[in-house]
Amino acid sequence: MTDIKEKLTAFSQRFNNRLPEFFTLPAGPEKRVVQAMEYSVMNGGKRLRPFLVTECAALFGISEEKSFRTAAALEMLHSYSLIHDDLPAMDNDDLRRGKPTCHKQFDEATAILAGDGLLTYAFEIISDEKTHPRPVIRSRLIKLLAEAAGAFNGMIAGQMLDLYAENLKNPSEPEKLIKNIEEMKTGRLLRYACEAGAILGNARDEKYQALIDYSRRIGIAFQIADDILDVEGDQALVGKTLNKDAEQGKITFVSIYGLSKAKQIAKDFISEAEHVLNIFGNKADTLKQLAHYIIERKS
Ligand code: IPE
Ligand code: IPE
Ligand code: MG
Ligand code: MG
Ligand code: MG
Repeated sequence: MTDIKEKLTAFSQRFNNRLPEFFTLPAGPEKRVVQAMEYSVMNGGKRLRPFLVTECAALFGISEEKSFRTAAALEMLHSYSLIHDDLPAMDNDDLRRGKPTCHKQFDEATAILAGDGLLTYAFEIISDEKTHPRPVIRSRLIKLLAEAAGAFNGMIAGQMLDLYAENLKNPSEPEKLIKNIEEMKTGRLLRYACEAGAILGNARDEKYQALIDYSRRIGIAFQIADDILDVEGDQALVGKTLNKDAEQGKITFVSIYGLSKAKQIAKDFISEAEHVLNIFGNKADTLKQLAHYIIERKS
């Protein structure tokens, strides 16, 4: 655990050091939206998705330098999803990454625009030829990102279902519903992280599939851990207001199965995730450790 935490922290520092280059402020008053974008990205996220992109690409000998822009684009898009998730019309949260949410620090209209700005910026970054010299690789990265973030089985679809399921009385198949919500709202971007690494690495067949299998398992386990932290986390470490899910009538693995069964389900997904990486031998040790960190984390 300490090992993987140190690796992730060291990665985050290198990653964060390069991010300011993406936020050159315009001269006019419209710079406010860029300030809100920068505020929401440069505020201490774990950088798990960029780390996954980098580590998956590294399995195929791709350097951190070469996967950096894809990783940065994904973090921009993820940060947009958090800004919008926190808006009063959605989860109505005041605290994110230990700081006031974007709409609290700025205002609601600016937060909506900052989210829009980060979403579009992700595609601007990823489609640039600096991201990868081959247009065919760039277009695969772009299409998959659009699908992962989108309204047809992507993150947006998951967010819609999450809101639809709020305060739903007696859903007919709650286990199926929650798996579907979590796979889409959270799983799709984590899956993208691994798939993008595989694309950058020109991975094929069973290695490509192994990374998808891994990502789907850690994706659900990651959200189960998030649901558990909402109930029994330490707010100072989590950096978000806790006990929100029950208060807002959210359907989560915890609300359906209870804490101890939810923990067991997450553990089982992580064992499976570890197992599917065996095809890479000890090259995948960091990804295996990361799988464990995902359910043992305190933040
Ligand atoms: C939070 O994601 C939103 C979920 C998908 C549960 P993270 O826990 O990765 O948030 P940051 O990026 O570290 O703040
Ligand atoms: C959010 O799930 C997932 C996305 C932002 C897409 P949650 O609503 O549980 O995330 P937190 O707990 O606010 O980070
Ligand atoms: Mg939410
Ligand atoms: Mg939320
Ligand atoms: Mg949550």
